[in-house]
Amino acid sequence: MKTPNIDLKNLKNKAKNEIEKAEDLKELNDIFKRYLGKRGELTQVLRSLERLPKAKRVKVGKEANELKNFLRIKCEQKVKEIKEKIKKETAKIEWIDITRPGKKLVLGHLHPLSQVKNKTEEIFQLMGFSVVEGPEVETEWYNFDALNIPKDHPARDIWDTLWLKEPENQKSKIKNQKLLLRTHTSPVQIRYMKKNNPPLRIIVPGRVFRHEATDASHEINFYQIEGLMVDKKVTVVNFKAIIQEFFQKFFEKPIKIRLRPGFFPFTEPSFEVDMSCLACKGKGCSVCSHTGWLEMMGAGMVHPNVFKAVGLNPKNWQGFAFGMGLDRLAMMKYKINDIRLFYSGDLRFLHQF
Ligand code: FA5
Repeated sequence: MKTPNIDLKNLKNKAKNEIEKAEDLKELNDIFKRYLGKRGELTQVLRSLERLPKAKRVKVGKEANELKNFLRIKCEQKVKEIKEKIKKETAKIEWIDITRPGKKLVLGHLHPLSQVKNKTEEIFQLMGFSVVEGPEVETEWYNFDALNIPKDHPARDIWDTLWLKEPENQKSKIKNQKLLLRTHTSPVQIRYMKKNNPPLRIIVPGRVFRHEATDASHEINFYQIEGLMVDKKVTVVNFKAIIQEFFQKFFEKPIKIRLRPGFFPFTEPSFEVDMSCLACKGKGCSVCSHTGWLEMMGAGMVHPNVFKAVGLNPKNWQGFAFGMGLDRLAMMKYKINDIRLFYSGDLRFLHQF
């Protein structure tokens, strides 16, 4: 067998020279592969050692291994050198101006309806009312029956209801009760009075749903704030005083309101509360259906049948209740002429609050 002709000295000079001249990491990597890679020149030498006579093999093997280590160290040094050079060069181009103002984070803010809800809660809390919540999916008993609106009563037509299909596996839980999306926050009056004895003062902010056509002042999904005050002696005068105080505090100026006779099966007497339209200063516009007045709430004195439904004796207790449109309150506060803007998700609108 032919013994290989090995010139390690020449190999060393050649490789050393190339490593020293390498300009970047890619070039250095190619050089490394050329000598020390799988098929590299030095690797081939090491592989061919077995074909050398023993005495020569030991000598050349030692030298080849030393060269291998030498080239490795050379390459490592060169890598460091190149990296250092890159660092210095980028530092020259990329520098941080610590005096430059930072980028401002874009923070969101509360939706105008949430702001109005918070403000309303704050004012009523100052007048001794607690804030209570109830479910958006209701049974027909809480939404209608317990509020003195029995099945087939024509008053149910006042509220165009979105009924829910009950899943088969839940039917047994609420016996014979159809589920619906609550049409008002009034069912929470019942829920609360069933668990808490009077005297009581609560407000109930929450989302309600109606299956009706939308226009500038009507949405199918909107918010109400229910109010309920029950005590030994509570009259319409108390109601009017509290509402007047609320409007004054909420709008931070005296507000013209009027009480009109109304009808709700769960209050007797019942009335509607209108406020002078702030969108047009009472002149008449699309928000107030050109009347100069906007209906803000339905209200009245708690009906004896409602007290009976929650196990209270109507002879012992009196109370008033109201259901105010939160969206309408916000429309008046910010002079917004279309309720649908609240739900449009239009940032040009939302950024204004
Ligand atoms: C009721 O929902 C009664 N539960 C209110 C009530 C509570 C009466 C307690 C007596 C005692 P009404 O349907 O009128 O009533 O709605 C109350 C208020 O919700 C209205 O005055 C109005 O401000 C607002 N509202 C009603 N329908 C809509 C709608 N589609 N879009 C926006 N706001 C509405």
